[in-house]
Amino acid sequence: MSIKPEIAKRRTFGIVSHPDAGKTTLTEKLLLFGGAIQEAGAVKSNKIKRHATSDFMEIERQRGISVATSVMAFEYKGLKINILDTPGHQDFAEDTYRTLTAVDSAIVVIDVAKGVEPQTEKLVEVCRMRKTPMIVFINKLDREGKDGFDLLDDIEEKLGLTVCPLSWPVGMGQRFKGVYNLYEKQLNLFQPHGKQQADEIIKITDTASSDLETHVGEAAAEELREDLEIVTTVYPSFDREAYLEGNLSPVFFGSAINNFGVKELLDCFIEIAPTPKARESEERLVTPEEDKFSGFVFKIHANMDPKHRDRIAFVRICSGKFIRNTNYLHVRKGKNMKFSNPTAFMAARKSIVEEAFPGDIVGLYDSGNFKIGDTLTEGEELHFKGIPSFSPELFRYINNANPMKAKQLDKGLSQLVEEGVAQLFTKEDNGRKILGTVGALQFEVIQYRLEHEYGASCNYEPLNLHKACWLTSENKEQFQRLLSERKRDIATDKDGHYVFLAESAWALKMAQDNYPEVQFHFTSEF
Ligand code: G4P
Repeated sequence: MSIKPEIAKRRTFGIVSHPDAGKTTLTEKLLLFGGAIQEAGAVKSNKIKRHATSDFMEIERQRGISVATSVMAFEYKGLKINILDTPGHQDFAEDTYRTLTAVDSAIVVIDVAKGVEPQTEKLVEVCRMRKTPMIVFINKLDREGKDGFDLLDDIEEKLGLTVCPLSWPVGMGQRFKGVYNLYEKQLNLFQPHGKQQADEIIKITDTASSDLETHVGEAAAEELREDLEIVTTVYPSFDREAYLEGNLSPVFFGSAINNFGVKELLDCFIEIAPTPKARESEERLVTPEEDKFSGFVFKIHANMDPKHRDRIAFVRICSGKFIRNTNYLHVRKGKNMKFSNPTAFMAARKSIVEEAFPGDIVGLYDSGNFKIGDTLTEGEELHFKGIPSFSPELFRYINNANPMKAKQLDKGLSQLVEEGVAQLFTKEDNGRKILGTVGALQFEVIQYRLEHEYGASCNYEPLNLHKACWLTSENKEQFQRLLSERKRDIATDKDGHYVFLAESAWALKMAQDNYPEVQFHFTSEF
């Protein structure tokens, strides 16, 4: 049987935002529409429960931060929608970056009062790099916030997106009356704390009609007309191709907590968002319709059960059909493996799946065989691209605090690095080990996990570095010269690739100027 109808049904996406913009609330409302949860608060209370029972790391409970990147699937209007949840906390940004390699599109949530925030900038940059189609949802319109046009300017400038508003707010905060949906040509009236079903939707194809005054009053109607005039003249109209190529981002306004504007977002999303896309591998382009199964590991979740050192490898299916208890080739290890308990994630529930299709995520129990970026196939040697490590921003020397446990430390470190918790570099001049992360919390997570899972202990020494850049060059002589002249700034990563440790932006610039034929890369994929 052809798998095409299954592929056509799937939409796999991630929601990205700065913490507190409303990602969890929006996720929850989307799940409510899909019937995947029955009551508001379920996603959050699920988080709390997880903390309380400490299924995951104890540290997570202590800090009340979700380290987990979970997958939530639901059905809506005959489609299967997979939401890949991303940790909001910036210390886990690298987890989020990697999760974005497994999505086909993204929804960016922005707080109307705060506008574009730093974390949004970083995450959108990763999506832009990968040409991931993005829809923007401006949230919390029930509160006073920035002017709509200022927000769009902010989005264009800071996020580098070309925007096209598909809805426009009528007032905001106390005066918030609703949104005009340019896509459907209708006015959605807002009722604070109302249920979406109770929202009044009024078809107004011609905004010059006096119907507008009837529903929102004279002043608001006039303001809306003026705004819409600008919107339609200044911004491009919606073009699906441009959106799918990552060149145009539709914008919606709403209030997730009030369940307002969420259904419009979802209905538009399922109409325009891409089905599972083809993926580049080093060898060739892999299309989802191919008969043979292939997929890659984008996330490894450790320590689901503190008593066992089991991990779950999250695999994004790229082509063909994944079938339980079937032998697949683990390309890097060159060995066949089969999985008796592959897991699918339906909102809060986990269940064993018999089969899964492109766009789906399956969780595979793993006793240490996988690392991020690993590929599974039916026999072909494929290596999927686009699962880079990002240049870390924080660095520390790591020392063994218990000489009796050197082996445990090495093993623990190498496994944690494979999971992508941090990056490990070895200095060329003195062999010292350096940990690089994107967030300070990771250092504590590593220390804690080394102790509790591997019985090893470590301590850190501060190290002031600006960035670590991967190096390549066609010019062997110049490359060698850099390696020997700057030995104290050179290290190797876990795969033996050379990395330049820049003490400052200035030092990096100087090195780039002095060795013009050496390329300095900010991600490990070049
Ligand atoms: P996050 O996952 O992006 O971090 O954000 P989250 O959904 O947890 O939302 C952050 C806060 O913003 C929450 O308030 C949430 O209730 C609130 N919020 C979300 N959407 C809206 C909205 O449309 N309007 C308004 N006014 N607030 C919104 P909190 O006080 O931090 O948590 P809680 O006690 O309400 O759960």
